[in-house]
Amino acid sequence: MNIGIIVYSETGNTLALCEQARDILTGYGQNVTLARITVNDVKLDRTLRDAPAAGQYDLVILGTPVQGFSLPVPVREYLARAEFADGVKLGVLITQYFKADWLGGKQTLKQARDAFARFHPVFYGAGIVHVRSRKRDQQINAAMRAVTNFEGKF
Ligand SMILES: Cc1cc2nc3c(=O)[nH]c(=O)nc-3n(C[C@H](O)[C@H](O)[C@H](O)COP(=O)(O)O)c2cc1C
Repeated sequence: MNIGIIVYSETGNTLALCEQARDILTGYGQNVTLARITVNDVKLDRTLRDAPAAGQYDLVILGTPVQGFSLPVPVREYLARAEFADGVKLGVLITQYFKADWLGGKQTLKQARDAFARFHPVFYGAGIVHVRSRKRDQQINAAMRAVTNFEGKF
């Protein structure tokens, strides 16, 4: 499978999670590209700088932090413009600060799925990691299982 991990990350948490997923999938012999959504200036100008093309992937893993209980504005802008393959297989990796999914993660996941809806995605899994939680390592393991162990899901 041709797999694209598309990630937005300002302080490295979501990027680290996505790099872990990339390494696992590469270890399984998959063809994986990790590409970053970037902005011109995180503090002063959050217009998009890099908006990776993603129409070539059979499977996309979107990596995003929660910002203001929601999908960050740059990710929303990226998803509004991006083109994905019709029927793309979709996984989502989310990091957040607060220690409850309802303080942003759940809503962010729903927004991400809604933004993909026009491509009729086959959603197969997601992970939400609370970066300051004592359960963080367990959450990371569960997230990795959810987005890298897709045998039998399609
Ligand atoms: C502007 C802003 C808004 C945030 N809003 C939330 C929030 O609503 N809920 C939450 O749990 N964490 C929130 N956070 C924390 C980030 O989601 C968390 O630190 C995340 O892991 C950052 O990911 P990154 O290092 O990949 O940028 C916010 C962070 C920023 C900078």
